[in-house]
Amino acid sequence: MSAIIPPNVLGDIPRTPAGLLSNREKDRLIERAFLGLYRWYTARSQETRNWNADKSFDWRAMNHDLPGEIITVVQGFFAVEQYAPDYTSSLVNLVRRSHGRSHFQMRWGSEEEKHADAWENAVLFSRQRSPEWIAEYKERLKSKQWELPFPDAIHNLVYTVFQERATQLNYLNLMKIAQGKSDKPHLKDVRDPVLAKVAQTIAVDEAAHYNFFLEGVRLYLYYYPQQTLQAIKNVIAQFSMPAATLVPNWEEFFETVYRAGIYGPRDFSRDVMQVAFRNLGIESRKKLEEGIKATREVPDFEDDSRVQTIIWDTFDYGSVEGDVRRLHVKIQDYENEIGFSELDPTEFIENPEVPRTAQE
Ligand SMILES: [Fe+2]
Ligand SMILES: [Fe+2]
Repeated sequence: MSAIIPPNVLGDIPRTPAGLLSNREKDRLIERAFLGLYRWYTARSQETRNWNADKSFDWRAMNHDLPGEIITVVQGFFAVEQYAPDYTSSLVNLVRRSHGRSHFQMRWGSEEEKHADAWENAVLFSRQRSPEWIAEYKERLKSKQWELPFPDAIHNLVYTVFQERATQLNYLNLMKIAQGKSDKPHLKDVRDPVLAKVAQTIAVDEAAHYNFFLEGVRLYLYYYPQQTLQAIKNVIAQFSMPAATLVPNWEEFFETVYRAGIYGPRDFSRDVMQVAFRNLGIESRKKLEEGIKATREVPDFEDDSRVQTIIWDTFDYGSVEGDVRRLHVKIQDYENEIGFSELDPTEFIENPEVPRTAQE
């Protein structure tokens, strides 16, 4: 997060007030936590979610008579996921200086790649799209390239939290339809245990992704509250699903998803935004926006302390600190298990800017 400053302006850098963490130190702490979390995540991913897109599902048993709109949905999910190489290369490059984050993005990419292959298998084995049609569709998709929705790492990190949660929700709601649990009359007779298992398996991965990125945003929120709150506000102001501008007939897909009761603006607000807010100690969008606005209204000549007070009042920093502490305990348990703790343990360092008296 710290700026790269040319040597000729080094003299202009404000010195970190005594007792506070410098940006360099904050960046080091965030990087260490990311690295520890990434090691924990990888072990867990291999132990609990090591499925295969071809062999983990009984593809021949897939329902051959699924309604056309379910095929439209599955095809759209495939279209979004098949940009996995673009997502991964852009994100790896963005965070290439961070060991924990760049290696994580490769692991993440390897999981997203499985999602693309599993959804493609589902389209193929539905027997409602020919292999030639799929090949042509893929060619059309691949002719366009996905690009980062935001130029900097913090905004993209925040974006990914909302995106992973939204994706998980989409898949869980398709799973319910495939289990015959749709509350839409025209879909209540749909049954496909294979499709239900695919949707559920991928949704579990998306939940793990959501959690990883959520922990990352909590770290930034704890050490860099002002920039992170601003990034959250910016991301929700213009949130859309990835590849929405790249996939042909996106509107039709989006309409179908909405009419099937899978995902729409209300779901985003209630089951994505509010869930993520709760996990980040943010009470509501209104409270977030008011907090950010209030910091701008502090006149320049006043000292920084009023801005600081407003920022820390904008979210529940106590709960975020508790979450960041728990993350460190999880990493430390993992490091104890391996033996890293004897050589190079990850430690939690409190942010001294957190208002202690109000908290007690
Ligand atoms: Fe995915
Ligand atoms: Fe994901």
